[in-house]
Amino acid sequence: MLLSSALLLLLVLPYSPAEAEQEKVIFAQPGNSVTIPRIQVWESETDKLYVNWYVSTVTEPLVWKTPGASHKTGTEPHWKDRVSVSKDLSLVISPVLEHDFKIFRCEQHNFIDKKETIYKLYPVIMPNTLTLIAGDSLSLSCEVKPSTFRPTVNWIVPQGISCDSQENENKYTVKANHVSDKHSGLWICSVRHDGHTLNATTVVTIIDLSTSPPDPIYTSITSSPPSIPCSLSSDISWSVLNGSGLQGGSWKFTPFNSSDPPHTLLILNLTPPSWKVLNEDRFLEHKTLNNRDLSVKSSQSSVKNRGTYTCSLHFNGDKKLSRTVQLEVLEVLSSNSSTTEGNTVNLTCTLGSPLPSDLEVKWIAPQNAHRIFPEGHQNPLSIPAVRVQDSGDWKCELRKNQTLLTSAVIALKIEKGPMDAWLIVALSSAAFIFILLPLITFIISQLIPTYQCMKRRQRKTRFCCCKNPQGKGFYKT
Ligand SMILES: *[C@@H]1O[C@H](CO)[C@@H](O)[C@H](O)[C@H]1NC(C)=O
Ligand SMILES: *[C@@H]1O[C@H](CO)[C@@H](O)[C@H](O)[C@H]1NC(C)=O
Ligand SMILES: *[C@@H]1O[C@H](CO)[C@@H](O)[C@H](O)[C@H]1NC(C)=O
Ligand SMILES: *[C@@H]1O[C@H](CO)[C@@H](O)[C@H](O)[C@H]1NC(C)=O
Ligand SMILES: *[C@@H]1O[C@H](CO)[C@@H](O)[C@H](O)[C@H]1NC(C)=O
Repeated sequence: MLLSSALLLLLVLPYSPAEAEQEKVIFAQPGNSVTIPRIQVWESETDKLYVNWYVSTVTEPLVWKTPGASHKTGTEPHWKDRVSVSKDLSLVISPVLEHDFKIFRCEQHNFIDKKETIYKLYPVIMPNTLTLIAGDSLSLSCEVKPSTFRPTVNWIVPQGISCDSQENENKYTVKANHVSDKHSGLWICSVRHDGHTLNATTVVTIIDLSTSPPDPIYTSITSSPPSIPCSLSSDISWSVLNGSGLQGGSWKFTPFNSSDPPHTLLILNLTPPSWKVLNEDRFLEHKTLNNRDLSVKSSQSSVKNRGTYTCSLHFNGDKKLSRTVQLEVLEVLSSNSSTTEGNTVNLTCTLGSPLPSDLEVKWIAPQNAHRIFPEGHQNPLSIPAVRVQDSGDWKCELRKNQTLLTSAVIALKIEKGPMDAWLIVALSSAAFIFILLPLITFIISQLIPTYQCMKRRQRKTRFCCCKNPQGKGFYKT
């Protein structure tokens, strides 16, 4: 149906033999798209033109456009879904395949005149993508076929990159040493010939790990464990990583102050991408590997986690990418966390080694202690004559340039001392004596007159000083 309408269109055309013309040279990169430009012959608007694009000697047009209608494509399966026309009715092939390098013909007419242009498509061979590992050397070639052409070739590379270019017959090569993240991006080989320019492109991806934090990561035994970061510097799919010769990876740990070789904690398995735990004692929590994130986390806060963590990826040919992260764990040590009133308690805020001089320690006492300490390097902190109110959480904040790095807490318990118990005994004995003494004095004062009376009666019985002579108990009958 489409074919017959196209043929009909041709028959209706007023016959005018195409001017004999040399074929135009058009370059295309397999895998990329190409636009074969329509030559503008008349001033008339594109909307008033009939345009048919043909390939080789095939009679059915690849694509055609009639005034007032959208473009239509032919039925040939090899082309059908890859051809279209641009706004100015140029032919667009996307993507160009290996067998597309043929003769193309553009037929256009405006009811009165007809114009035919012949094109020949030639390949510029350059990879569409290139994946390298940071530190590799890059060598990218753009090859123009056939070698009889002498086009003008320019390289357009990502900003800030210096590289060498070479030319060898029809092969144009650009080289860079020791690639890094900044080499990733679009590399363009711009081929100019006979007024037509093709930008052949290669998307360069550099596999690298993000730079590790310059400072250690600070945490404390009383904080939740922090994430130990490691990630790919760009979003790279696992299939690309696998294709780049990735062999595996690991997380290793060297304890602080240890001369032992590093412990391997996790191993990266590739099928499917996942971490395997090797050292259950120092278990690291990890995420499922579905993005660039390779970070891990300790399962608990402990001074045993102090040390250096190394995340690495291994590739074919002994290539390796690795990053290290240092973890510092703050803790507060007390000379005596449970003591009695009046003693001196010393608190020490420590990372397990002397604090670097650029770090400051600030102490915060429990609220009810009503103690304030000056900021600075007061470490260890000596708390003289502790009282019961000093019980509670003592906090040590570690700061660098006023920025809080981490803080640790210790609970102090101050009790009334044995001295107080003796004091209570002494006080109660004193109280006992003070109550008993007047009582005894009173009893004695009651007894003394009776005794004197008895004595006087013995000497002089007629007189009796007793007010109550009837008191029987004192008289002898
Ligand atoms: C080729 O790429 C350069 C740089 O991106 C651009 O300036 C130029 O217009 C491109 N040429 C074509 C024909 O796409
Ligand atoms: C990874 O690449 C190897 C060859 O390098 C291949 O044998 C393997 O099937 C690939 N694995 C995945 C998951 O694509
Ligand atoms: C800590 O305090 C307790 C109770 O007062 C005492 O028995 C112990 O000897 C003290 N220890 C130190 C190291 O001062
Ligand atoms: C506390 O520190 C002071 C000096 O800072 C020291 O003289 C004292 O012995 C220490 N006390 C304890 C219990 O460690
Ligand atoms: C680290 O090693 C030094 C020297 O071997 C030692 O003096 C120091 O106490 C050690 N520190 C820790 C926290 O083990």
